[in-house]
Amino acid sequence: MHLKTIPILTALGLSVGALSARELKEFDNDVNYDEARVPHYDLPDPLITAEGKPVTTAEQWRNVRRPQILSLFANFVYGAVPVPPDPIVQTYRVVREDKSFMGGKATKLNVAIRFKNRKGTAETLVLVFLPNNAKGPVPAFMMLSFDDPRGGSFKPSTRREGFLNNGVPLGQLLDSGYAYVSVYHGDLVGHNETSFGRGIHKLFFRDGQSMPKAHEWGVLTVNGWTGMRALDYLETNDRVDARRVAVMGHSKMGKATLWAAAQDERFALAISAQSGCGGAALWRRKYGETMAKLNRFPHWLCINARKFNEREDDLPVDQHMLLSLIAPRPVYVASGTADTWADPHGEFLSAHHAGPVYALLGKKPLSATTLPPPNQPLLDGDIGYHIRTGGHSVEPFDWQQFIQFADRHLKDN
Ligand code: GCU
Repeated sequence: MHLKTIPILTALGLSVGALSARELKEFDNDVNYDEARVPHYDLPDPLITAEGKPVTTAEQWRNVRRPQILSLFANFVYGAVPVPPDPIVQTYRVVREDKSFMGGKATKLNVAIRFKNRKGTAETLVLVFLPNNAKGPVPAFMMLSFDDPRGGSFKPSTRREGFLNNGVPLGQLLDSGYAYVSVYHGDLVGHNETSFGRGIHKLFFRDGQSMPKAHEWGVLTVNGWTGMRALDYLETNDRVDARRVAVMGHSKMGKATLWAAAQDERFALAISAQSGCGGAALWRRKYGETMAKLNRFPHWLCINARKFNEREDDLPVDQHMLLSLIAPRPVYVASGTADTWADPHGEFLSAHHAGPVYALLGKKPLSATTLPPPNQPLLDGDIGYHIRTGGHSVEPFDWQQFIQFADRHLKDN
């Protein structure tokens, strides 16, 4: 496609969903990567209610302000999960069990989660890797993942001992006493869904409805919801301690992770790896990807979010408030020095500005107020952060910090 056609298509309101993320980025020549050009902005205060009252107690946070913020994110940013017109029956089926995965270190379960009501059925396949040497129920890392469980991504790597083909250090996770759960993003909704006929949405549509309403769930909400349903399954598996599950995701899945952890307080900890715009990064900084650019993936957010294209300052929330919703549970944010599209500094600032809510709840905010140097993780608080040298990926260095952070919070020390 010719370079000039993108803005024309967008101006006509036509979808560019068929283009890959890389192709979209190549068409951008107006992205701000200059810290000096970050506009002045005022962040909404998580500790002032919609009525303008200061929040000074944990009880006010819990009963008044937290529900307000949750509702704003649901209705204006990601989209709320509607009430289905007919109750959904959710069932689990272990379709395959391999007790000698990775040389006998793990049991691998392929678990089909099926949803059914009179509007139709939908199914997703979740992979669960359980350490075989565990004495009792173990904590788990649940990764919201781009990797299709039916492909080769989950075979042990023949090149790197202890790793899966997708780069996950499964051996290290198992040795550290964790189960690993992989939740695929693509079964219940498409990566760039525009038709909504195939996946989970149809079970929730009212008669005659074929698209989500403006405030109803987009793709990211479905991705997070899928993780919650996988957590429902884990609650039925006595080899996992479902009260000690860290949910994590990279990039688009990092966005879904934070939103899932914000909504579902059963997640004990959340890890955002380079979630960027719509994830940990502050909207108002307009550095790297922006609301308008993210909304070129037409339904990742809800339709209402488009009202804030080029108008980030009008948003009733910013992403530090999403992190605040996870409090008092621990949250970790990871950035990359070369991952500028995701605005590493904005990811850090969000973690920083969530601090007052953590402090109000008696938890420890980040131990630095300015961006730390590369590869020097801040691991001692209930909010954790690091910026690693390098680009947009999850590297062994990142995993090492995630495991250490989870060790501090999910294990009896
Ligand atoms: C695109 C998109 C990002 C997203 C990323 C990914 O670059 O613009 O918002 O995080 O894809 O999911 O890898």
